[in-house]
Amino acid sequence: MTERVVVVGAGGFGRETLDVIEALIAAGASIQVLGVLDAAPRDADLDQLTKRGIPYLGTEAEWLPGATGDERYIVAVGAPAVRRRVAARFSDAGLRAATVIHPSAVIGSQSRIGDGVVITSGVQVSTNVTLGDHVHLNPASVIGHDAVLSDFVSVNPGAIVSGNVDVRSGVLLGAGSVVLQGLAVGAGATVGASACVTKDVEAGTTVVGVPARDVALRPLAGG
Ligand SMILES: CC(C)(COP(=O)(O)OP(=O)(O)OC[C@H]1O[C@@H](n2cnc3c(N)ncnc32)[C@H](O)[C@@H]1OP(=O)(O)O)[C@@H](O)C(=O)NCCC(=O)NCCS
Repeated sequence: MTERVVVVGAGGFGRETLDVIEALIAAGASIQVLGVLDAAPRDADLDQLTKRGIPYLGTEAEWLPGATGDERYIVAVGAPAVRRRVAARFSDAGLRAATVIHPSAVIGSQSRIGDGVVITSGVQVSTNVTLGDHVHLNPASVIGHDAVLSDFVSVNPGAIVSGNVDVRSGVLLGAGSVVLQGLAVGAGATVGASACVTKDVEAGTTVVGVPARDVALRPLAGG
């Protein structure tokens, strides 16, 4: 049966998600993209959708009342907290999320992948990995063996999560960051681009640098 999908988010990651779906269709998957929803799309993003022939369906508030209930949704919004709020609206309306995995991604054995997950091109997921719901893995990110990524985690391009790492709900790992083996990144934390995490990260904090340090605890410039 053809899966009928709406993508929520017209921005960069929304269009990257469309690329994943188009690659899946080219590889033989039976998916129909109904269109894209966005509460406040930029004109430039709408132009890009028009160029690729994807309809803009309006805002979630406009579209959801007319949904039949058999559509699947993907929240293609990079910010974990926003993604969580948007996904709640769709699941409250009784819709199920779709998971899409680019054909070029490598997924190791015994890995478990939740609903609403987007895995883009060139991603490597090792063995015995657990990905919660609405996890985003951006291009060329690498997830080590036995890692657990809870719901609404975003792994930006080129980031590396080592083996046995516990990445808790709503964490954002910046582009090119590295989390060393066996560590925990607390819920809602942000790891800056290019940071190397060498110790557990407290929930809700932002860490940057090599080794990664809490930005709130860093000395002020010149101080
Ligand atoms: C860490 C991060 C979340 C901070 O964002 P922010 O709160 O808006 O912070 P600001 O840009 O105001 O910068 C605050 C300070 O941190 C520094 N800083 C910001 N990001 C940094 C990083 N990744 N590494 C080291 N220092 C960083 C800034 O230079 C600034 O320092 P200063 O106070 O000495 O001038 C953000 O810069 C980041 O790295 N996000 C990930 C980006 C990413 O992955 N992009 C790819 C998207 S596909």
